Amino acid sequence: MARVMMYKRFERLWHWSQALLIISLLITGFEVHGTYRLFGFEQAVDYHVILAWTLIGLWVFAIFWHLTTGEWRQYIPSSPNKIVAMARYYGVDIFMGGGHPFHKTRQQKHNPLQRAAYLSLHVVISPAIWISGWLYLFYASWAEWGLLSLSLGAVALTHTAAAFAMFAFLVAHLYLAITMSTVPLGNVKAMITGYDDEEEEQTLAQN
Ligand code: HEM
Repeated sequence: MARVMMYKRFERLWHWSQALLIISLLITGFEVHGTYRLFGFEQAVDYHVILAWTLIGLWVFAIFWHLTTGEWRQYIPSSPNKIVAMARYYGVDIFMGGGHPFHKTRQQKHNPLQRAAYLSLHVVISPAIWISGWLYLFYASWAEWGLLSLSLGAVALTHTAAAFAMFAFLVAHLYLAITMSTVPLGNVKAMITGYDDEEEEQTLAQN
């Protein structure tokens, strides 16, 4: 077991600023939706739009960083039997004292289930929220863009459904981040300092 720099500086900056922006977007978005009253509708819309553009800016940097550093490989899906093994570990083995089927290394810091979850966050939920949000924002230009057959209701529904999916992801992510650590809040500390335990150097065959 060795202490290694698991999460680089940009990665930590990206992670925490994205978390803050997504939580703020959930708070303002569900006020716009009418779930509660906090800032007032007009103000909530203004905040939501500013936060949304900031998040889009951050994503542009994050995409560039992942492509140029090769870190996008961390999201290549694992074979289905590895995902099943992880699900069985979380659902059964962990309660019976069984061993973790995956060993975290700098090259492969996500377990097979995390790979699948983060990949769906990045290629399904985020683009859905992003594209529907943009369409929502530019509703006034739809006629000019020839999008006459598009329904505002369908766009709003897609955006709200993606927001619920984002919320569900956040809850599961927080639960696992807090509970799945050998030392209290170990995963949270690792994402603050960057340092985490690398169990042993594994080969790509672990995928
Ligand atoms: C994690 C990210 C986001 C979450 C959780 C979120 C959540 C929400 C929710 C729940 C609503 C209310 C929908 C309704 O009741 O019809 C909303 C409205 C809206 N969102 Fe988002 N959103 C996010 C990102 C974005 C992005 C990236 C954009 C723009 C590119 C955007 C633009 C809008 C707009 C324009 C509205 C409508 C405001 C109005 O009614 O005037 N959102 N959002």
